[in-house]
Amino acid sequence: MSTMLVTGGAGFIGANFVRLTIERGAADHVVVLDKLTYAGRRDNLAGLDASAVEFVEGDVCDAGLVSSLVARADTVVHFAAESHNDNSLRDPSPFIHTNILGTYTLLEAVRAHDRYLHHISTDEVFGDLGPGDPRFTETTAYAPSSPYSASKASSDHLVRAWVRSFGVRATISNCSNNYGPYQHIEKFIPRQITNILDRRTPKLYGTGEQIRDWIHVDDHNDAVLAILSRGRSGETYNIGSDGEATNRTVIELICDLMGAEGYEHVADRPGHDQRYAMDASKLRTELGWSPRYTGDLRAGLADTIAWYRDNEAWWRPIKDAVEAGYAKRGQ
Ligand code: NAD
Ligand code: TYD
Repeated sequence: MSTMLVTGGAGFIGANFVRLTIERGAADHVVVLDKLTYAGRRDNLAGLDASAVEFVEGDVCDAGLVSSLVARADTVVHFAAESHNDNSLRDPSPFIHTNILGTYTLLEAVRAHDRYLHHISTDEVFGDLGPGDPRFTETTAYAPSSPYSASKASSDHLVRAWVRSFGVRATISNCSNNYGPYQHIEKFIPRQITNILDRRTPKLYGTGEQIRDWIHVDDHNDAVLAILSRGRSGETYNIGSDGEATNRTVIELICDLMGAEGYEHVADRPGHDQRYAMDASKLRTELGWSPRYTGDLRAGLADTIAWYRDNEAWWRPIKDAVEAGYAKRGQ
């Protein structure tokens, strides 16, 4: 019987990953380790068979707990992180704790127990691009801009060092911006969808000319499963589905799909990265991966809007507090 340990499995991407893993039979048993911060929710795993998915509340920096869970697993997939740039600008400390110390703690446990680790990372470690620059590849130099992206870059470096110095078996994936069900409403796309559902005006930072490379969360997780089954230890794989769009285009598409009137420009993010874009050719050619939702965001966004419309009870209780936080910063 195969057991997979998933850290951060009660968060947005991790919870979708656990669901896909069970649906595909990619592991017989999944153990989720999650601290249940403001971003993690037990009910993100609701409806899953309790005999297949075991939940452990705890901190990925707790070496004793992590060691005991890693010992029981064949494979470890590491999603746990502080993940929101805007929060890292207000208080970087939890980012350093979880993203750097947490990855270190996990690496020491997989080293001690000789387990395979897949580390989930982001395109933001590469910094940003100008409009005509070639897309990020796996060999692009790291140049993170924010406390969030710098902490993720640090964690990637730790994984590579543990592979090289200690022979740890590990892979890394760097993915572009995700969207889909269960994403916290502090993030761009669900914030605008729930603004419209709540009769508030959608909020665009600055001019909205920044470009993000959007991927549906199921495509991200499908790529992670492909790496787990066919990836080569020691390798890094970029994940992206050719979804580049300006923030203005995305907000206008959401307004169009939801029949909303307009949006307002609000204070820009300090140090705002201009453009992210992923070249995922290695994943496509070496592992034969391809996304279900292609570059056209419309279909994926329509499904996501339907999910937030159908799951108002999931987001409604936190909406006022999230918007009050943004309002304090003129956003
Ligand atoms: P999220 O914030 O929704 O979820 C993070 C989860 O980690 C939460 O459940 C939280 O409770 C848990 N967690 C936080 N600190 C912890 C700790 N100390 N110990 C145990 N659990 C802890 O984030 P997400 O968007 O699902 O991102 C998951 C991973 O994917 C992160 O590593 C992130 O860097 C990476 N990533 C995200 C995106 C994106 O667009 N969201 C893109 C590329 C990569
Ligand atoms: P976000 O979802 O925070 O992801 P990231 O910082 O990882 O790219 O933001 C995506 C883009 O949307 C980013 O350029 C900032 C912008 N943005 C807005 O224009 N309005 C908003 O309300 C938010 C939250 C983000």
